[in-house]
Amino acid sequence: MAKQRLDKLLANQGFGSRTEVGKLIRSGTVQVEGKTVRCPSFACDPEKDNITIAGETLLYRPFIYLMMNKPAGVLSASRDHRAKTVVDLVPEHLRRKDLFPAGRLDKDTTGLLILTDDGQMAHRMLSPKKGIEKVYHVRVEGEVGKEQQDRFAKGIILADGTACLPARLDVLEEGHTPLLRVVIMEGKYHQIKRMLGVIGRPVLSLQRVSIGGLKLDETLCQGECRELTAEEIEEIWKRCPYPIERN
Ligand code: URA
Repeated sequence: MAKQRLDKLLANQGFGSRTEVGKLIRSGTVQVEGKTVRCPSFACDPEKDNITIAGETLLYRPFIYLMMNKPAGVLSASRDHRAKTVVDLVPEHLRRKDLFPAGRLDKDTTGLLILTDDGQMAHRMLSPKKGIEKVYHVRVEGEVGKEQQDRFAKGIILADGTACLPARLDVLEEGHTPLLRVVIMEGKYHQIKRMLGVIGRPVLSLQRVSIGGLKLDETLCQGECRELTAEEIEEIWKRCPYPIERN
């Protein structure tokens, strides 16, 4: 791996802003290969060099993978001039320079969102060819029964003529505003709202609860995020393998 500046490396690994890690390095807290380094521009190779911060060895991770419980009212984007984005909600220690949401949820949709700085992984996860199941809980207006379930199972044709793949529709709570569980294998623009619009059941609220085998961690409050566990990351690799060996 190419050498990189120590301050840039530590900032990218979540130790603070470039200014903060600069101060940390100058204070003599950081050692590379057993020697204190006080120069922020010092060049090092995080895959080869043993780097310690206050005596703790840096466990270098080239990429970060986060699970967020997205709240309503924020954009699934990295940056926006006017509106708050999901990246704005990520706490400083989990921020990375190129962090972005892998896939989009509408501004008013809540629930499971993955954020990463690994573009290749996001690309593979989002590929419609992978047939990754996405599960949503949806509150709608109007009763839902077998007729609507059969239409979903056959594949809904959207108002603009776009054909959707067969989808599963289950009723979790019955009534005039039932709670539904909808499973789709693709991610067209506003897909759930448009599918339910076609069958005359406007969406009142929409929450994504899982993607592939990855379930929304219910201990996460809305707006919170955490790193994916090694098992969760492995589960994603299994479902969306790279064509070449990762090393
Ligand atoms: N379908 C929608 O309509 N909106 C979302 O945010 C996700 C799926």
